[in-house]
Amino acid sequence: MQTQNAGIIGAGMAVPDRILTNAALAATVDTSDDWIVSRTGIRERRICSPEESCSTLGAVAARRALESACVAAQEVDLIICATATGDHLWPSTACLIQQKIGATRAAAFDLGAACSGFAYGLETGCGFIRSGGMKRVLVVGVDTLSKQVDWTDRSTCVLFGDGAGAAVLGPCGDGEGVLASCLGADGNGFDLIKLELGGTKNPITAESLADKGQYLMMRGAEVYRFAVRIMVEACETALCRAGLTFSDVDLFIPHQANLRIIEAASQRMGLPEEKVFTNVAKYGNTSAASIPMALTEAIAAGRVQRGSVLVFVGFGAGLTWGANVIRWSQDELSSPAAP
Ligand code: ACO
Repeated sequence: MQTQNAGIIGAGMAVPDRILTNAALAATVDTSDDWIVSRTGIRERRICSPEESCSTLGAVAARRALESACVAAQEVDLIICATATGDHLWPSTACLIQQKIGATRAAAFDLGAACSGFAYGLETGCGFIRSGGMKRVLVVGVDTLSKQVDWTDRSTCVLFGDGAGAAVLGPCGDGEGVLASCLGADGNGFDLIKLELGGTKNPITAESLADKGQYLMMRGAEVYRFAVRIMVEACETALCRAGLTFSDVDLFIPHQANLRIIEAASQRMGLPEEKVFTNVAKYGNTSAASIPMALTEAIAAGRVQRGSVLVFVGFGAGLTWGANVIRWSQDELSSPAAP
């Protein structure tokens, strides 16, 4: 039996209106625009209002992605929400998004792979279509890390921002869509990026709050070295599985954590600047949202055409990583919804 190919048929994104510039941050914590730009490439990020959350941002991105694919919410078979900062531990944020967009026929679940969540979600969603069981899968990557960073810790608070990106997946033709992926994990690195409190192992108590375990903790330099190495390895493996090499890549869309990491990895891959998409300057690290947000902006900027070979790669807490190789299968999206 021939397997049904699957790929992205629509994309959309949503970010909060509030912009927090480096200059504004430097007024509240001991840092500077110069330090942040030279170490990370980040100039500003978006921050949720108290009323906004992963489900509200995720629902807007999802609606825009559906619109761009000309797919009605009722046609969606499954919603996968990749997030590390969901509205609640449970029920899933995917269920909240399902309710908000009126995708009444859709099954829904959250996927926990931190910043690699979208790469994991894309391969997982395609699997449901390839197996013949489903036709329309919505993958939402969303995170609101502004709610989990310690705004007095300059080593982490300058890095993150809030946002959501979504992709609609559907069947596509021979040789098109997601050609191959490489997903991986190394639980030995669980300690490098973590949120200690709030799960069932370490519930939040008045005493535990004193140690600040409710905030994201990261060993930045170790994550940096891991990131550069694993991005290259994961992309190489995924390309090899697709029968391609780095020279076949038209556009590289990496997780937007840090411009220096992206530059170091793309240099090792031999990819020139014009083949690398970045928007980390505007949004900071939006975790699971960063790849679908960057994809949406790349489409809106006219950098993705039918037949283009795209490579996505994410890395993050877990440790986890994931790369996808895509041959773009769409002529034009009806409304690529970049703000
Ligand atoms: N402003 C000014 N100075 C700072 C700041 C700041 N915001 N943050 C740290 N410093 C200081 C440090 O205290 C240190 O000072 P010292 O030498 O006097 O001790 C100095 O700057 C250098 O610190 P380093 O940690 O060595 O800086 P580095 O060049 O490694 O950059 C950074 C730090 C940006 C965090 C980098 O390590 C990095 O990007 N790591 C990867 C992070 C990442 O990608 N995380 C995301 C993955 S997971 C996920 O996406 C959720």
